[in-house]
Amino acid sequence: MTQTSENKSPGKTIKSTNLHAVEHRVPVQGRWRKNGHRGGVLWLTGLSGSGKSTLAMELEQVLHYGGYQVYVLDGDNVRGGLNADLGFSPEDRTENIRRIGEVAALFADAGVIVITAFISPYQEDRDLARSAGKDQFHEVFIDADLDTCEERDPKGLYKKARLGEIPEFTGISAPYEAPENARLTINTSKFSIQESLDVLLEYIEENFAEKREVESAA
Ligand code: ADX
Repeated sequence: MTQTSENKSPGKTIKSTNLHAVEHRVPVQGRWRKNGHRGGVLWLTGLSGSGKSTLAMELEQVLHYGGYQVYVLDGDNVRGGLNADLGFSPEDRTENIRRIGEVAALFADAGVIVITAFISPYQEDRDLARSAGKDQFHEVFIDADLDTCEERDPKGLYKKARLGEIPEFTGISAPYEAPENARLTINTSKFSIQESLDVLLEYIEENFAEKREVESAA
């Protein structure tokens, strides 16, 4: 495939010209069989304080020690590096999610289970991440109501936002669009961390299973 400056990805104009599709000699299914599970993106979305990062880190630990290839992408690390140039305006959040969606899709293509933990407040942005991750994209709504998140306030940010010290704070002065068609919803106001983790583990077992088999080069 050759792309010109006229070609567009769903989110952005592609400025580079004369691009050609990369042809791997390792099929994605070969990676899945070697790992004993499929790659994919488990896209956690929810308010700050809903439990995304906690669940992502717990799940990463359990899966890693269970023999899975797994990696967490989290707001507080990606925003310190790759997306250090982005703030919290609607445009910057869109670009934040677009880049993470593309990075997560590459990890997934490499056979890894990527767990992302970003507020990702806009449905349209999550849909763009889904189009990058294709069939292996799983949107998971970490559903905790605003009152619960504000009560938890683990980083003290809701308090600051209420005092007007943080502009455009999600849930207070910026919107959060709850997913309409999430593959899985976990209500962390009702479920404990362990119960939520069990639901996620069951989902992984059901949706990422693949028979392990080591092949040699053709
Ligand atoms: S997103 O909206 O672009 O998806 P992201 O998940 O990367 O946000 O970052 C959210 C984290 O940034 C929050 O958990 C919080 O620690 C911090 N943060 C700082 N300012 C804001 C803000 N205005 N709104 C939401 N989160 C903020």
